[in-house]
Amino acid sequence: MQERSRKILGKPANKTVAPHTTAPASARYASAPTAEAPAIELKPDSLAFSLIGAAQAVAYVLEGTALPQALAKVFTQTNALPQARGAIQDISYRTMRQVGRVDALLKAMTNKAPEPALLYGLLCCALTLLVNKEDETAPYEDFVVVDQAVTAATSSPHMVFAKGMVNAVLRRFLREKDELLKLVMKQPAAVWNYPQWWVDQTKAAYPEDWQAILTTGNHAPPLTLRVNRRLSTAAAYLERLAAEQIEATQIGPYAVRLAKPIPVTSIPGFEEGMVSVQDAAAQLAGPLLDVQAGMRVLDACAAPGGKTCHLLELADLDLLALEIDAARIQRINENLQRLKFTADIKQGDATRSGWWDNKPFDRILADVPCTASGVVRRHPDSRWLRRKTDTAQLAALSSRILDNLWRMLAPGGKMLMVTCSIWPQESEKQAAAFVEKHGAIRLDAPGQLLPTMANSSDANNEHDGLFYALFQKPEQS
Ligand SMILES: C[S@@+](CC[C@H](N)C(=O)[O-])C[C@H]1O[C@@H](n2cnc3c(N)ncnc32)[C@H](O)[C@@H]1O
Repeated sequence: MQERSRKILGKPANKTVAPHTTAPASARYASAPTAEAPAIELKPDSLAFSLIGAAQAVAYVLEGTALPQALAKVFTQTNALPQARGAIQDISYRTMRQVGRVDALLKAMTNKAPEPALLYGLLCCALTLLVNKEDETAPYEDFVVVDQAVTAATSSPHMVFAKGMVNAVLRRFLREKDELLKLVMKQPAAVWNYPQWWVDQTKAAYPEDWQAILTTGNHAPPLTLRVNRRLSTAAAYLERLAAEQIEATQIGPYAVRLAKPIPVTSIPGFEEGMVSVQDAAAQLAGPLLDVQAGMRVLDACAAPGGKTCHLLELADLDLLALEIDAARIQRINENLQRLKFTADIKQGDATRSGWWDNKPFDRILADVPCTASGVVRRHPDSRWLRRKTDTAQLAALSSRILDNLWRMLAPGGKMLMVTCSIWPQESEKQAAAFVEKHGAIRLDAPGQLLPTMANSSDANNEHDGLFYALFQKPEQS
């Protein structure tokens, strides 16, 4: 990202302004108006309301908060109704995928970084809606975007001073769109919408595929489901979807991709545990671990429990789900309850062994923490929140986890290492070093899966970028 937003990124908190009091959504979208800055009412179903909510979420992200938490904060502050939440979320996710480009455009059109952060966020969101016209799903007419962005600025005592500037910048962009885009498209961050180091690192690791990888990361992800084989099959579930006029394709033995994402609450059979949301590449983990009924299994980095539940769909297991983050353990519980499975759940650190009863495990799933660079299309904010140095730090942490878990594995037992990263430092290099260090037997596994998208040549194999390495402990060790 450009210098001005890096500045915001590096300087947490003090520039953001709460967009709202705890008053209802129809009330003013800013803290108490001042005499020189009268706020106007915004209708909760207006684009202006959504724009200012998304602007605040973007401002929080640029200060270091992950987008889901940023949105949760905005929803609480604004009491936004479900429809407005959907629009705020949609605009902020789009903006995260465009912020490299719109930041460069803003820099080309303004003398100094727009402040406060809320104003910067508003301009980023509005420009995102204007710049992205080659995308057929662009949801608003240009004149509506400009009008509503100015209304949003006018509604806030923190931005009313800049309403003329908002109007001027957006209109200038529309007038000079081609020239401005030509000017900024010399910068990699503007072309690719990733920080420069991310572009460089992808290019270095994948000299052939880097462009396709970056492009995939800028597309909204599909909604893929895993059919619970204890309750149904992919073919039977497709029929159920067809009966409800929901278009879908089978893209794996139990993987079904919906043609259009829908809210989880509208997915047929979701509440009764017939299906779970899980990417097609992630669905490979359970079968690879080769679990058999009665085995003692450790899922060492378990939250939110997607793979835990998949393992239990495959066989009746004595399963321990370990997770370091207490808040995330609740998600494992919710998933187990929905699918009506039981497992032992413990809060603990996989680099330590205080939680272990010294009985070896037959199988270990090590879905280790990583930069999540292979799932950036699902978390478009992560590229702006991560630092180049995170790759090495996370690789060091996951190496400690793998070393510690290895001694808990029974002779002849299998351990599956999984990352959702595309960086070799976290994946293949790590796996090779592990084999070298422990004398592990390396069994067949997919290795590095690069992310693919729906309109690629292999559309029916659409998945995230995951890495799999399967190790077996020699009988004599
Ligand atoms: C990639 S996610 C796991 C996803 C999960 N396996 C699934 O399929 O739903 C990694 C998880 O590891 C947890 N984690 C990170 N460090 C850990 C540690 N030292 N010990 C245990 N869990 C850890 C994180 O909190 C996070 O929930």
